[in-house]
Amino acid sequence: MSREFKVLQTIFVLFFILSSSTYNSNGKFIPEGAAVFDASGFIVLTNTSKHSYGQLFYNQSIPIKEYSSFSINFFFAIVPEHNHRGSHGMAFVISPTRGLPGASSDQYLGIFNATNNGENSNNVIAIELDIHKDEEFEDIDDNHVGININGMRSVVSASAGYYDDKDGKFHNLSLISRKLMRLWIVYSQSDKQLNVTLFPAEISIPPRKPLLSWNQDLSPYFMEEMYFSIRASTGSIRALHYLTSVLIAPGVEDPSSLELIALPILPPYPKKSSNKTRTILVVCLTLSMIAALVASWIGSVFYWRHKKVKEVLEEWEIQYGPHRFAFKELFNATKGFKEKQLLGRGGFGQVFKGTLPGSDADIAVKRTSHDSRQGMNEFLAEISTIGRLRHPNLVRLLGYCRHKEDLYLVYDFMPNGSLDKYLYRSNKNETQEGLTWEQRFKIIKDVASALLYLHQEWVQVIIHRDIKPANVLIDHEMNARLGDFGLAKLHDQGFDPQTSRVAGTLGYIAPEFIRTGRATTSTDVYAFGLLMLEVVCGRRLIERREAENEEVLVDWILELWEIGKIFEASEESIRQEQNRAQLELVLKLGVLCSHQAASVRPAMSSVMRILTGDSQLPDNLLEVITAEKLRGQPEISMEVLLDMNSMSALTITNSFISHGR
Ligand SMILES: *[C@@H]1O[C@H](CO)[C@@H](O)[C@H](O)[C@H]1NC(C)=O
Ligand SMILES: *[C@@H]1O[C@H](CO)[C@@H](O)[C@H](O)[C@H]1NC(C)=O
Ligand SMILES: *[C@@H]1O[C@H](CO)[C@@H](O)[C@H](O)[C@H]1NC(C)=O
Ligand SMILES: *[C@@H]1O[C@H](CO)[C@@H](O)[C@H](O)[C@H]1NC(C)=O
Ligand SMILES: *[C@@H]1O[C@H](CO)[C@@H](O)[C@H](O)[C@H]1NC(C)=O
Repeated sequence: MSREFKVLQTIFVLFFILSSSTYNSNGKFIPEGAAVFDASGFIVLTNTSKHSYGQLFYNQSIPIKEYSSFSINFFFAIVPEHNHRGSHGMAFVISPTRGLPGASSDQYLGIFNATNNGENSNNVIAIELDIHKDEEFEDIDDNHVGININGMRSVVSASAGYYDDKDGKFHNLSLISRKLMRLWIVYSQSDKQLNVTLFPAEISIPPRKPLLSWNQDLSPYFMEEMYFSIRASTGSIRALHYLTSVLIAPGVEDPSSLELIALPILPPYPKKSSNKTRTILVVCLTLSMIAALVASWIGSVFYWRHKKVKEVLEEWEIQYGPHRFAFKELFNATKGFKEKQLLGRGGFGQVFKGTLPGSDADIAVKRTSHDSRQGMNEFLAEISTIGRLRHPNLVRLLGYCRHKEDLYLVYDFMPNGSLDKYLYRSNKNETQEGLTWEQRFKIIKDVASALLYLHQEWVQVIIHRDIKPANVLIDHEMNARLGDFGLAKLHDQGFDPQTSRVAGTLGYIAPEFIRTGRATTSTDVYAFGLLMLEVVCGRRLIERREAENEEVLVDWILELWEIGKIFEASEESIRQEQNRAQLELVLKLGVLCSHQAASVRPAMSSVMRILTGDSQLPDNLLEVITAEKLRGQPEISMEVLLDMNSMSALTITNSFISHGR
């Protein structure tokens, strides 16, 4: 590995910490103990066992002393087993170790145990959401928020609630109300002040007056490196502690990106049948079996007739899912999926335009068929997550419908179609107007912001897997919106090198994905890099009509860069001197992102920072890129290529070998 390369990597690590203003998810939040990620995108910190405890921790130490201030935001809800009795509660914890060394459940909240509780050597700061009144710790009540140092006794605490901005009135909140609430913790070293604000999730702007404001210099408790976690525990009374959208950021600002537009409804505490009821059940079942045998004979005829229209409804679908459309609704909306309504045929199916009866809202319905029930169920579970994503640069998923072997996904209709139509105009200057550089640059930033959200700002890392101009849609205000996420996964049946089926679009698939079959955020960055290049150059990745050295877009751009003429790669209509700096920047960034070596590609947070001008590309970038290039990549065998050609999703064939820089 060359020296320059090492330097470059360090730069990107720094970007990530200092820049993105989030050290969010990025795959580094890890559940431990009883904690699990559930199918709907929540983290559930405790389970239905008595005396359970769990935590979600950020698996990277944070050099907390380097920050003059930081803030933590998360949404949570507590669903107790019994309506009016809490369990023990949860806490945000700053500690010198990761994991749960010797922690106890019950009143210790999975943070301390009877021996180390209150020890000065702990160096632990906890902000607790306590739902049990422990006399031993002098708790004020069974519904309070407290700040704890090194032990379970709170230094300051207050009954749960918030101060209304309008009239300054205090409103009580019940922590065990099963409602989603948000906790905002902010610490400023210069003010030596820690503020804690609790408020209902439906209030999007945090109340100005915090619930707790503690004037204390916390730096004596900070070791060089600290770990952040959120912990919860139960005792003999059980409860589920839900958590979502955790955002840890330097600075005291309230992050505007943290907004849950669709408030999920939490499922009730799972019912567990007792032994007594079980006995009754067995008796009833035996009796009803006899009855059922008779009835089934009569009923079978009706049953089979009904099964055709019966739609399988899973538990989670009732609880959280995005809207589930009836097939009839979609059938009517698209006038029976008539050819006339067809908007296009993509890799994974056809898209129809429709209008929902009784509203003028236009929708786009994507029909995709799938024969594997297994993959389908998994994907449907994922839809409940996707359906809750809200970002101005993502195409909104309105709902879905499953009918026979087909899955229908319903999206907002995007009147201006997809980006590829603007880029590859067959007869330029005519039919459609070309995009100006300002429009193109905005589109690039829009897509980058959507990807940053999926990769780093949502509590789970979401990999798009199929970024290309055809999946970027343009809305009526010329904003770009990323569509079709997750679909590639549905069609990627787990990668088996023997039968190699890879879903995605050839040309946009990162080389390591071919070798490992594993999609990562870095494979998305690869495809995004190529997309940037296409937007600037206004042409496809492979263009047979061009001169031989210009056929493969990336190779050609790199060639021009080496002779100092990268500017000339941009499309003529936008190649103006006043755009030069931005054009060159995007071209270089595009080449960097689409680098063969995944380790060279920056994270989306860095990409975004470079695009907004908050960071610069390193001066020696070209050397690094070409040095890595010389290391070479293993060739892709023809067999894999042939197999891939049979996949409907692949739109460009035969491009890999020539593309292998
Ligand atoms: C709860 O979590 C604990 C710790 O991981 C585990 O031992 C226990 O089996 C879990 N209980 C249930 C009901 O899943
Ligand atoms: C957490 O971080 C440690 C040290 O950086 C690493 O060894 C470990 O694999 C990480 N764990 C996970 C699950 O990523
Ligand atoms: C309490 O936790 C400490 C570590 O913090 C551990 O060394 C000790 O054994 C634990 N004590 C008990 C009784 O679990
Ligand atoms: C809020 O809760 C406190 C403590 O439980 C109680 O004393 C007070 O009356 C409540 N106020 C309102 C307005 O419900
Ligand atoms: C804490 O809250 C008070 C009252 O709103 C505010 O004046 C102060 O700036 C806040 N401190 C921090 C560190 O945010």
